[in-house]
Amino acid sequence: MQDTPTDPASENETGHATGSHSSGEPGRERSLLRFLTCGSVDDGKSTLIGRLLYDSQLVAEDQLASLQKDSKAHGTQAGELDLALLVDGLQAEREQGITIDVAYRYFSTLKRKFIVADTPGHEQYTRNMATGASTCDMAVILVDARKGIITQTKRHSCIVSLLGLKSVVLAVNKMDLVEYSEDRFNEIVADYIEFAEKLDIEEVNAIPISALTGENVTESSDKMGWFEGSSLLSFLEEFDVPDNKSHAPMRYPVQWVNRPDLNFRGFSGTLASGSLSVGDDIVVLPSGKESKIDRIVTYNGDIEKAVTGQSVTLTLTDEIDISRGDVIAPKCDRAETAQQIESALIWMGEEPLQIGRAYQLKASHQTVIATVSRLDHKIDVNTLDQVDAKQLSTNDVGVCELQLSRPIVFDPYAKNSEMGNFILIDRLSNTTVAAGLIKGADRRADNVHWQHTSVDKSARALAKGQKPCCLWFTGLSGSGKSTIANVLENKLHMAGQHTYLLDGDNVRHGLNRDLGFTDEDRTENIRRVAEAAKLMVDAGLIVMVSFISPFKADRRLARSLFNDDEFIEIYVDTPLEVCEERDVKGLYAKARRGEIKNFTGIDSAYEVPETAEIVLPGAEEPSEDLADEVVKILRREKII
Ligand code: ADX
Repeated sequence: MQDTPTDPASENETGHATGSHSSGEPGRERSLLRFLTCGSVDDGKSTLIGRLLYDSQLVAEDQLASLQKDSKAHGTQAGELDLALLVDGLQAEREQGITIDVAYRYFSTLKRKFIVADTPGHEQYTRNMATGASTCDMAVILVDARKGIITQTKRHSCIVSLLGLKSVVLAVNKMDLVEYSEDRFNEIVADYIEFAEKLDIEEVNAIPISALTGENVTESSDKMGWFEGSSLLSFLEEFDVPDNKSHAPMRYPVQWVNRPDLNFRGFSGTLASGSLSVGDDIVVLPSGKESKIDRIVTYNGDIEKAVTGQSVTLTLTDEIDISRGDVIAPKCDRAETAQQIESALIWMGEEPLQIGRAYQLKASHQTVIATVSRLDHKIDVNTLDQVDAKQLSTNDVGVCELQLSRPIVFDPYAKNSEMGNFILIDRLSNTTVAAGLIKGADRRADNVHWQHTSVDKSARALAKGQKPCCLWFTGLSGSGKSTIANVLENKLHMAGQHTYLLDGDNVRHGLNRDLGFTDEDRTENIRRVAEAAKLMVDAGLIVMVSFISPFKADRRLARSLFNDDEFIEIYVDTPLEVCEERDVKGLYAKARRGEIKNFTGIDSAYEVPETAEIVLPGAEEPSEDLADEVVKILRREKII
């Protein structure tokens, strides 16, 4: 996913690991396996990874000394080496990495090099798992032999499958605590296989282990003679790495346009998938303009061919307009472009996903605003059934339709994971709230096309002799927004301007009469009035919107519908005490008595604007003066 750190190992690798096994002879390149470990908190994941690191002798002498000391002091193994401490110790380091909670650990044997993506096992850390899994070749799913297959195992398997991993090792841990029972092992494996059959997982290999005692981890176990397979480490050493990425079509997202002087115009970026050569016929998306690769420039001079993961600068044989975020693809194998997409979401946000809310979507080098326009279903991870849902909560997996602020270039995830994944970011808290996998363009949208009209916004504005815009008033109920907007409209009207005032209370009598005051309803309330205001601006009017609009995200969505110079946010900053004191409609009193629920300022939040163009001190000056103040600013900024 997008926030995955570059793993140091990949810098030394050219392209993706090949799957071929080498003998481990000196001088021969050993292949690389990236795998993911997932399991619940107490399944013994840390102990297992600690064991792999320890037994493959990756633990430095000084680390070993402090491990011995810590094991005596804090260990859970009666003074014996507690390998979990080794991993948990490393964990503290990685916590300083901040951006991501997936830890990548590197170790090697004579046969192979390994990168383990270790993800914390708590329920709320499912997100890290999703992030880790997208870069891995296979997953090791740990279960506790005493507990067997639990919801968390199913959730993890579901995500692993969704992310396209086809191979899973089911490591049945803590076999020492079930007397190394073959029956118990078989029972768990049967349970798992029954469940996994419904998933897109092609290969399940089950291995009974004890991470604590080391049985079947690096060496075959005497205690489980009945098990004929190899130890976990031998299995990982022999595992055939699927080679998906080099078969993916060539995709080159342009990171920046490199123009050091007038004679050179190159497009810099990293090849996301496939390979490209000088002379290749290409197309630039979304524009669809065609050209040929002229040169592939690198720090060390020109090259003839570039492969996945390489950072280069391209020049083309034609002068065409290309900007950051555009994608270069082969002429004969284009990526898709769409403004409405269908995607699977793994929801990680602490607050549930809300239909109608706008998030920031980041995919390859493109960033757009995405609004969830419909939630198709969520997946019940226990039964894998598709169930109706109104929202997605933390760790839920669902399928939804996203409406984007402009078209993006992508491949469906199943065809090319690199160009089919994205993350959603809450723009307020700046946290990642979902990992997304694009299923495809929303076909329903294909049948609806934007119709260009011959009389457009500028023609309408010209006829009115004014510059249309949206003046968005926000503030608490009783702050004075409607009064000021009313005075302002009067002034503009007297000056011959064509205006309209959209007032919250009024619009709730008609267009929005089906909406109440829950967070979801307010979001929809704002979306609709913002769309209505947009139409009015398109009609050439100066539109005033006077809605509490308490949530930043919703105001941001409103803003995103307009050009930069068309949207002016006016915050009427009147303290709650003053609004309550005024209580023109008697609603604060009712809210205090508990007769009205979700009243803004009382039991529903008002998020103070940080980006308002104009702030009016609603308690300090009469509405008349505040309206004059707005007129003055609008004139100065040449808005009217
Ligand atoms: S918004 O929050 O969704 O933007 P809007 O501006 O449309 O609110 O409507 C606010 C008006 O509805 C208030 O001025 C008040 O008269 C009335 N109202 C009734 N119930 C509530 C409530 N629970 N919270 C806020 N306003 C309410």
